[in-house]
Amino acid sequence: MEKVKVENLCFAYDPNTPVIQSVSFTVEAGSYTTIIGHNGSGKSTIAKLMIGLLAANSGKIWMNDLLLNEDNIYEIRNKVGIVFQNPDNQFIGATVADDIAFGLENHQVASEKMQAIIEDYAQRVGMQDFLNSEPTKLSGGQKQRVAIAGVLAMKPQMIIFDEATSMLDPQGKAEINALIQEIHAQGELTIISITHDIEEVAKSDHVIVLDQGKVVLDGHPNEILQHEKELIQLKLDIPFALKFQHELKKNGISVNAGTTMEGMVAELCQLHSKS
Ligand SMILES: Nc1ncnc2c1ncn2[C@@H]1O[C@H](COP(=O)(O)OP(=O)(O)OP(=O)(O)O)[C@@H](O)[C@H]1O
Ligand SMILES: [Mg+2]
Repeated sequence: MEKVKVENLCFAYDPNTPVIQSVSFTVEAGSYTTIIGHNGSGKSTIAKLMIGLLAANSGKIWMNDLLLNEDNIYEIRNKVGIVFQNPDNQFIGATVADDIAFGLENHQVASEKMQAIIEDYAQRVGMQDFLNSEPTKLSGGQKQRVAIAGVLAMKPQMIIFDEATSMLDPQGKAEINALIQEIHAQGELTIISITHDIEEVAKSDHVIVLDQGKVVLDGHPNEILQHEKELIQLKLDIPFALKFQHELKKNGISVNAGTTMEGMVAELCQLHSKS
């Protein structure tokens, strides 16, 4: 089932400079889709178009089978959570707890249930000791954690993460990514993650590659990440496991273990036990 369908989308902030140029793609329900592209390729603009924060010049966007228009924009936003690239743009409440509560109130969560939900999600992102802090006084990474807690707590059907963990330290990033994967694995949650993290891409179900406002590659990461030369030309990286496989190949060792380190290690162990 398709969760999102984008068809011939065009958009420009300034009429003389097209930013999104006839973009089309689909996202399957329940999938973990990544969108990659170098700085300025149009990723955040597409995210804003998808939730109606910007209006397209032409083209169509279906979210949950609803053709996005002025009449259903709030219905769509009720089902789709978004964590913005810059966490400063995300806060409304005076404290971390108020901020998470605000989203829950908008989703008509009963007030007697709210406190437990707030505490649960704050704890899951490691921010339980900051519930009475002012969001503006948190560090960038802490703000990102709170923004993620706020969106997860609302239990949307789909979440768009726009570089949502970019300010976290490596361990924090791994913990939050594991939490997101855990919630994704539990249910029908569809995730669209805009990221520069090629290892995250390698683990996703589907990757869309943008360049200068156009989709240049679209498919399963196992296939797309083989386009090494093209990705490097687009100023993108390839996963460590693939680089390692290419180096092994130069030395006469052939492995074909996909794009993740887990697959790579499993295949090398098998080779080792055979030899
Ligand atoms: N509010 C704005 N007004 C005018 N131009 C904008 C605005 N926001 C973005 N742009 C331009 O639109 C293009 C796409 O920007 P966008 O933020 O979508 O890129 P991105 O792929 O998200 O980049 P990054 O990886 O740096 O986050 C860029 O050339 C940018 O300069
Ligand atoms: Mg961006």
